[in-house]
Amino acid sequence: MIFPEYRPRRMRQNEIFRSLIRETTLSADHLIYPLFVQHGKNINDEISSMPGVFRISVDRLAAEAKECMELGVNNVILFGLPEKKDAVGSGAHAKDGIIQRAIRELKNKTPELNVITDVCLCEYTDHGHCGIIIDQQVDNDSTLEVLAKTALSHAEAGADMVAPSDMMDGRVAEIRGALDENNFHNIPIMSYAVKYASSFYGPFRDAADGAPQFGDRRGYQMDPANVREAFREADLDVEEGADILMVKPAVAYLDIIAKLREEYDLPIAAYHVSGEYAMIKAAAEKGWIDGDKVMYETLLSIRRAGADIILTYFAKEAARYLRKG
Ligand code: PBG
Repeated sequence: MIFPEYRPRRMRQNEIFRSLIRETTLSADHLIYPLFVQHGKNINDEISSMPGVFRISVDRLAAEAKECMELGVNNVILFGLPEKKDAVGSGAHAKDGIIQRAIRELKNKTPELNVITDVCLCEYTDHGHCGIIIDQQVDNDSTLEVLAKTALSHAEAGADMVAPSDMMDGRVAEIRGALDENNFHNIPIMSYAVKYASSFYGPFRDAADGAPQFGDRRGYQMDPANVREAFREADLDVEEGADILMVKPAVAYLDIIAKLREEYDLPIAAYHVSGEYAMIKAAAEKGWIDGDKVMYETLLSIRRAGADIILTYFAKEAARYLRKG
C-alpha cells in the first residue's frame, strides 16, 4: 500500500505541534462582559434563564469589576434597569440614572476597567420599544435626539466607549456629532451595525425587562433572511463614523461575520447573545454536552469566522478556562 505523501496527522501528534500551527486564538483580551445593573443595595439576583448571570446593585459593581480584571477581562458593557419607565425613556439620559451612577462608581473605584455602555431606550420606555412612539410607530428622527443625549450623558459620566443598539437610521452620525460638539472626540462608537430581529434575545429581555409591550422589533431590526442588507447597514455606519462594527447574534450569523471581515477594515465585534448562552447552559445542566468545551469551541468559532471582539456572558468563565489551559 502506498501512503499519501502528506500526512496531516504528522502535525497533530502532540500539543506543541498543534499549538505551533493553530490558526485562531482566543484570549481574555478579546472579550467584553455584559453587566446588568439595578437600583437597591446588596442585590445579586440570578437571572433564571441565564444561569451564572446576575442583576447587581451599584454597590456591588466594584467587586465584580475587580473579579473581571483579575481574570484578565478588562472590558464590560453596562445594561441598566431603571426604577421608573416612561413613554420617552427619560431614565436613559438622567444625570442620576442607573447607568450614569454605575459608570461613576466604576470609574471612581476601578478606573482601569474599560466601561462600555449600551445606548438604547427599550429598558427605559414603558412600551419597551427602542424609540419614541408616534402614531403606534417607532419614530426614527425624534428618537435620534434622545439617543444622542443618552450617549452624551454616558460620556459625561465617564464612559470609555458607547454602543448604540437601537437600530434607528442615522444614529451613529447623530451620536458622533453630539460627542464631538462636547469635546468627546476620543470616545469611540461601537455600533450594533448589523443587528437582526432575533428570537435569541429572549432571556435578555427577561433580564433587562425590555420586551416590547406591543408588536415586535421587525420594523427596525434586520430580517434574519438578509445578507446584502448587512453591507448597506455597515456602509452607513462606516460613513457615519463608527469605530467598531458589531454583528448580533453571533453563532447563527457566522456567515455574516465572515463576509463583513472580508469587506471592511474596521474591527468586527460579535455579540454571543443571551439565547445562545442559555442553550449551552441548559444542555450542559442536563449533562448532554460538556459545557466548558462547547463554550470554548463556540467562542473559537466566532473568532475563526473573523470577529476580533466577542461580547459574551461567558467572558469570566472563558477566561478561567483559558487560564487552566
Ligand atoms: C437593547 C439590546 C438587546 C440586546 C442587547 N441590547 C435586546 C433587544 O434588542 O431586544 C440583546 C442581548 C442579548 O440577547 O444577549 N436593544
